[in-house]
Amino acid sequence: MKALVAIIFLLVFSVANAQHGASKVPYDAAKMQWFEDAKLGIFIHWGIYAVNGIPESWSFYNKQISYKDYMDQLKGFNAKNYNPSEWASLFKEAGAKYVVMTAKHHDGVALWNSRLSDLNVVKKSPAKRDLLAPYADALRKEGLKVGLYFSHLYWSHPDYASVTQVGMENTPNDKRNLLSYPLQGKEDPARWQKFIRFHRGQLKELATGYSPDLLWFDGDWERSAEQWNMRELRDSLLRWNPGMILNARMNGYGDYLTPEQGVPITRPNGKWELCMTTNDSWGYQHNDKNFKTPRQIINIFAECIAMGGNLLLDIGPKADGTIQEEQVAILKTLGSWNRKHAEAVYPTEAGLPFGHFYGPTTLSKDSSTLYLFLVAQPWDEIAVKGIRNKIKSVRVVGSNEQLTSRKMGGASWLNIPGILYITKPKQYDENLTVVAIDLEGKLDLYHGSGGAVEHN
Ligand code: GLC
Repeated sequence: MKALVAIIFLLVFSVANAQHGASKVPYDAAKMQWFEDAKLGIFIHWGIYAVNGIPESWSFYNKQISYKDYMDQLKGFNAKNYNPSEWASLFKEAGAKYVVMTAKHHDGVALWNSRLSDLNVVKKSPAKRDLLAPYADALRKEGLKVGLYFSHLYWSHPDYASVTQVGMENTPNDKRNLLSYPLQGKEDPARWQKFIRFHRGQLKELATGYSPDLLWFDGDWERSAEQWNMRELRDSLLRWNPGMILNARMNGYGDYLTPEQGVPITRPNGKWELCMTTNDSWGYQHNDKNFKTPRQIINIFAECIAMGGNLLLDIGPKADGTIQEEQVAILKTLGSWNRKHAEAVYPTEAGLPFGHFYGPTTLSKDSSTLYLFLVAQPWDEIAVKGIRNKIKSVRVVGSNEQLTSRKMGGASWLNIPGILYITKPKQYDENLTVVAIDLEGKLDLYHGSGGAVEHN
């Protein structure tokens, strides 16, 4: 009996893993449900780097600025216009269902009053208060899920650069960044263990003090899963706060994948979320005005949800807590588009596989309505291939303009569907038009590659 149970478990586990690729843990569909349905999250990179408007942490790591000058930014981080309720209502208006804020970036500066390190904005900056509790409260009041970003690596900690990454033992000193690794031959595993205790301690403060719905890790790449002891970390986190979702930047011991900046070209293997900046910077950089247009962002959002992903769209508030006006405008436009097209977004499933339609598509949860996102205006008709269902109606989402459709070609007696042609709409949405096809029954697709029709 036990053996049978074990075999069944292994089978289920391997099927789940085959579907959810890079993850080393089984996919917990019930726990992940809210995240799957969320589609849109807001990422917030808020930290002392906004004072000078320079890259978060990387600016001192890459010696663009000295460590001292970088940390001097603490003196200008005042958060004096921080209004988390306004933030939360803007995010809700944008159509986001969750938010992830940098509790601590690679620089190690904590936005909460950590008992384990004075390097935090409560003790060391004029902000002088915990910035996480009001953030979490404001989000919860708006019904949004609370996420916290936490960098594993910590370039300010005296015990962090105590061991090397597996495989780099012979890297010469001049090739090592001493913020990450010790000099050759100076490895000190005991200090590393001290750092690990500190790392766990800070995470326990976050997991138990703020009960986040999601922990968004970063910076696992400077050590191996064994060095971080990720398996044990995962277990501890879920003991401290059961039900919490963990992203996969835990050397694979997380729940979902996090492609960054580039929309995946092929569908990732498993649940995923694209994190992306609105301009070219994660945090506030006054010189960066290279913003994507709302239309570009809406198109990218559609690409993500069509392939079963979420979009985690980043903003970088200023040191006083105000959100850049370009980002406010993007979020508001995204929000009005989302409200008009809500049925095509929430909660839907990934749409058609590639090859059926030239553009992103989503499918209603009951599989009976297919949504086509028109990334370009058709010359005369919209064409969709491989749909076996009869069509009940075709309409433009938001305006309810009815469109006519007909199937042409195919070999219906062999169940090979023709091409579905839909008349083009009279009016288009200024950002992205969506056409809904209401099907008879659940979507029934023909995937074949064809052959001779031997029976006429
Ligand atoms: C990268 C960078 C970091 C940024 C993150 C967001 O990992 O190290 O600066 O916060 O991406 O995904």
